[in-house]
Parts: sequence; structure tokens; C-alpha cells
Amino acid sequence: MKLFLDTAHVADIETAHSWGILGGITTNPSLAAKEGLEFHDLIKAITDIVSGPVSAEVVADTPEDMLAQASELVEIADNVVIKVPLTRAGVSAGARLTAEGIPINVTLVFSPAQAILAASIGATFVSPFLGRVDDIANDGLALLAEISEIYEMQGYDTQILAASLRHPQHVVESAKLGADAATMPFDVMDKLFNHPLTDIGNERFNRDWDAYQQSLAERRDA
Ligand code: G3P
Repeated sequence: MKLFLDTAHVADIETAHSWGILGGITTNPSLAAKEGLEFHDLIKAITDIVSGPVSAEVVADTPEDMLAQASELVEIADNVVIKVPLTRAGVSAGARLTAEGIPINVTLVFSPAQAILAASIGATFVSPFLGRVDDIANDGLALLAEISEIYEMQGYDTQILAASLRHPQHVVESAKLGADAATMPFDVMDKLFNHPLTDIGNERFNRDWDAYQQSLAERRDA
């Protein structure tokens, strides 16, 4: 399962990239709005850092307007993936983009039926929003399990991108359920590193190493 960051914040993307674990980026209009940069400049800055897929979302009411936005976004870099919402207009635009060989990520997916629609238009990614399903007292992981089972049974090529993840356990369970990628906020990715026994063990190794070096130095000086 690839690890994606769900952010448009370039400093966080640089940090995660430096860790060597960054498989791709997902952005959305709300995340882009926080950054105060022109959208195309923002996507260019992200693709300058990340070589994996970078999802850039189209925002319009008609397929024609979505396609016009997509045609500009795909010019920014080879790794741009066009994000379309799971609406009638979004699916219509998405079908035309995949027919032209342009990779798409179908977003705002909240049901297995919607995930079937995404696969049927040859989407590269389908993004079920686990956290937002949990927010309305339903089970986001159960949704992921259903989509995973259907995709396996049907042999769909569309990759499942578990989205709207809120904590490390969402990431672990997504991996167990066969997600191809998981996109998460920076703080969730950062928390994947944490374990108290790692900190205790690392401190002890450092302390023992220093004592060892000191005893060798004392023996040399004796
Ligand atoms: O970018 C799509 C999705 O991951 C949004 O997550 O946290 O706004 O529900 P969230």
C-alpha cells in the first residue's frame, strides 16, 4: 500500500519527501484554499517535489467546464492526476478523460455503488472517504471492505485510495483490507513513526554507545 499525503502544504510535502516514504499527493479545493497561492502554481510546486501521482481537482458544474480545467492541469506535469467528483457531471467528464488516456481519481465516494461507477469508467483511483463516513456514525472501514471485495471479485484495475483518514489505525486497517494507497494528513503520517519502546530503546542504545566509546578512550589513554 502506497502512502500519500492529503495536503497542499509544500513545507509538509518536503518533509515527508525527505523521509523517503512519499508515494503521492492528493489535494482538494479546501486544502488548496488554505495555501493562498494560485492553484496552477501550487500544483507545479508540488510536482517539482513529488514524482508519484499528484491529484488536482476540477471544480465546475458541467463536464465541458471540468474538461477545460483538466486540459490546463495536465499541462503542468506528467504526474498530474485529474480528480473528479462522483457526480453525474464528474463521471461524464471522467469517462472522457480516461478515453483520452488521462488518469483520474474519482473523489467523494461514499458507497459501493459509487465505487462501481468509478471502476466502470476506468478510473486510475477511487477515493472512499472513510473518516467522513465515521463522522455520520457509519463505518468507513466497512465501506472500504465492501469496495475491496467487489473490486477483487470483478477484477477491476482501478486502485483503491483510502481517503479521509484520521489516525494511524485507519492506515493500518486500510492496509489489512487491501487498499492500494492511503492518503492522510501530515500529522497522521508523522504519527506512524511513533512508539514509546522505540524512543526508550534508541535512548538506551545511544547511552550505551557513548559509555562504550568513553571506556575505549580511557583504555587508550591509560
Ligand atoms: O482529500 C480528500 C479527503 O481525504 C478529505 O479528508 O479529512 O477533509 O474528510 P477530510
